[in-house]
Amino acid sequence: MNIITLRCSQPTDANSLPAIERSAAALFRADPELAWLADAPVTDARQHLHAIESADVWVAQSADGALAGFLGAIEVDNQLHIQELSVSQHFQGQGIGRKLLLTAIECSRKRELNGLTLTTFRDLRWNEPFYQRLGIKTLSHAYLTHV
Ligand SMILES: CC(C)(COP(=O)(O)OP(=O)(O)OC[C@H]1O[C@@H](n2cnc3c(N)ncnc32)[C@H](O)[C@@H]1OP(=O)(O)O)[C@@H](O)C(=O)NCCC(=O)NCCS
Repeated sequence: MNIITLRCSQPTDANSLPAIERSAAALFRADPELAWLADAPVTDARQHLHAIESADVWVAQSADGALAGFLGAIEVDNQLHIQELSVSQHFQGQGIGRKLLLTAIECSRKRELNGLTLTTFRDLRWNEPFYQRLGIKTLSHAYLTHV
């Protein structure tokens, strides 16, 4: 059994995160309209380091020490906004993305924030429907204050 632990990210993780995002993005090849995202540039290690030091980043780590995925978020307008959620291809479909998201939701509750926000793709089965099953509501344009 593959035991996965979630923890707050440390600066030494920064170099591993671009490869996770790149691997995760390969999933977009399944959608002809979004396949280009699989080859798009990813956040670099320097930007990840900045996020680890100044915002909220959680990583999922397997028993052998390999990083399987991460979730990065920042507080905006008293809400926790998810900037990035990625799970390496090899580790997908094992509940890691769900655990990372639940950790962020729990964090926003503990801090008594007004809520948790994110942007995602509506038509992908592992995006909008996944978040909706965890209680996240899709906002209409009328509710958006930042575009
Ligand atoms: C989205 C992502 C983070 C999910 O991570 P994961 O560890 O594979 O997800 P989980 O195993 O926890 O599954 C989460 C849910 O998504 C569903 N799901 C996961 N992969 C799926 C796929 N390829 N197709 C359809 N549904 C999928 C699961 O059934 C599960 O549903 P449930 O929790 O309601 O039972 C991962 O697929 C990923 O990194 N994708 C590429 C990047 C991306 O899309 N990021 C999010 C953009 S907002």
